[in-house]
Amino acid sequence: MNPQVIIPGPDALPLPAPVFLLQFLLQLTFLLHLLAMNALLGGLLITLFARIKGDGGDDPWTSLPDAVAKVSPSLVAATVTLGVAPLLFLQTLYGQFFFTSSILMGWGWFSVVVVLIFAYYGTYLQSFRGKDLGGGQMPLLGLTVILFLWIGFMFTNNTSLMLHPEKWAAMYFADARGLHLNLTDPQLWPRYLHMVLGAVAVAGLMLLWWGRSRLARGDTSGAFMVRTGGGTFTWFTLVNIVLGLWYYMAQPAHVRKLFMGGQPLATALFGIGFVLGIVLVVLGFLLRRQGEGANPWPVSVLALAEMIVMIMMRDAVRAGSLGAHFRPETFAVQPQVLNLVIFAVLLLAGIGVLVWMVRQLYLAWER
Ligand code: HEM
Repeated sequence: MNPQVIIPGPDALPLPAPVFLLQFLLQLTFLLHLLAMNALLGGLLITLFARIKGDGGDDPWTSLPDAVAKVSPSLVAATVTLGVAPLLFLQTLYGQFFFTSSILMGWGWFSVVVVLIFAYYGTYLQSFRGKDLGGGQMPLLGLTVILFLWIGFMFTNNTSLMLHPEKWAAMYFADARGLHLNLTDPQLWPRYLHMVLGAVAVAGLMLLWWGRSRLARGDTSGAFMVRTGGGTFTWFTLVNIVLGLWYYMAQPAHVRKLFMGGQPLATALFGIGFVLGIVLVVLGFLLRRQGEGANPWPVSVLALAEMIVMIMMRDAVRAGSLGAHFRPETFAVQPQVLNLVIFAVLLLAGIGVLVWMVRQLYLAWER
């Protein structure tokens, strides 16, 4: 066993933009990925729950999963497309860490591509075959959900293993076949569960908006979506506050200290994130009490703000964990202005096209 810390050097090629800009773009594009991923993963988990609860007749628990299943292939496309940009920024900035952890868990990491293909098929079958699948509909949905949960789990393994260079040499010399995961890390489970439950909460909020737009068109089935979506958001956010604290407690002492006065920004984020979490739960319960006519804007804007705070906290954990191992000030930078402008234009155009596609889909199935 070799106890030393071995970290590959940074890429010899200069960065195409200043570090602060790449950091900002990583967080911005990750937020977009997160929104799509939450709609997909959270939506599928809600769909599975509704399928189990529905009696197959006229009850709303039966029609809800049919509606969500129809949109899930488009959500896969959005999640994957919006995942590419943060992946590029992550590799550009943290390649030394991310590539090493990817190699240590090579087979698990490769599995993402294969699993994604089958999971994508699963959503297509649900969407296009629907009831024709007969008794196979529920098992297929269950399997599809498990496959997407697996993909998320691989991402959490990789993005947490990359934070522990001190573990790598021992792992590699114990077994170099790429069969490792990060299962012994105390932050793995709270981090993963926090992500998954957060996805369900955000998908609940999206369901609420969907229900409201149905109600606005005079479709009374929207009332059930509003109630179910609001309840899901509120209860899952409540549980997620506890999971967030567990995630915090699972950090090494020197990282925890950053959030307790050690670093002003991290401390402020921790305070804001915690208070926002409680405010969201209170607003969620108020929304439920006010019924279908309640205004969901305040809770939605604050939920988005909470997601941004969480992404920034995640970044503070990453910086705190890597500490002196990550030295961006030593990276060579050679800005490629034209490429950056092209990227910005294409990113905006891509988001525009996605919004347009979702709207067209929505109009098509509501007709
Ligand atoms: C479609 C199924 C997918 C699901 C369910 C999913 C889920 C997740 C989850 C849960 C995380 C958070 C991991 C953590 O930090 O604990 C994550 C991060 C990430 N995902 Fe995805 N993902 C999916 C597909 C993709 C794809 C296909 C890509 C790339 C093309 C991608 C790119 C990323 C990147 C780069 C991060 C980490 C960003 C960072 O650490 O700053 N994802 N994903």
